[in-house]
Amino acid sequence: MPKCSIRDAQALIHQIPDYPEPGIIFQDVMPVLANGDALQAVVRHLIEPFAGMFDVVAGVEARGFLLAGAVAAHTGVGMLPIRKAGKLPRPAAKVRYTLEYGSAAIEAQADIAAGARVLILDDVLATGGTLSASETLINKLGATVVGHAVLLEIVELGGRKHLTAPLHCVFPEQV
Ligand code: PRP
Repeated sequence: MPKCSIRDAQALIHQIPDYPEPGIIFQDVMPVLANGDALQAVVRHLIEPFAGMFDVVAGVEARGFLLAGAVAAHTGVGMLPIRKAGKLPRPAAKVRYTLEYGSAAIEAQADIAAGARVLILDDVLATGGTLSASETLINKLGATVVGHAVLLEIVELGGRKHLTAPLHCVFPEQV
């Protein structure tokens, strides 16, 4: 029997009003990751629809790294970090994108096989700019995105319409 239900894990999320800017309600998932039973529950649920379908997980900086590392260790696949621009030591593919608050660019090195099947992981889908850019980035590396898995989707922002690969969200939307 699981020690922690998804509902119990979701209850650990903290909502922080007006962070990092006025009008934004920040969804802090760190308490979920800090609880071993909750972390095990979310790792299992993140990959549930994609069992046997991926060779590599890609984690988006910064909180996606934590989920991707946990999933990689749980499943035995490799983990590709998708980094904010300017952090990688070797030549990397790059994609610019627009964020909910500002703009940015992400990069990844070609450390996975061409044709690898990649599941992209992050904590939150908001506008969809980050995951859409991540999809483009993985395609630039010659790999295939089989899906995206996140803990939370801010449904009112409509981010999922910018994604080509299927999106799986672990927690139902919070009100
Ligand atoms: C947050 C979040 C996602 C992204 C979602 O990361 O962790 O990666 O925003 O937003 P979007 O769907 O509108 O693109 P953030 O850019 O705050 O970076 P951080 O994890 O390094 O703090």
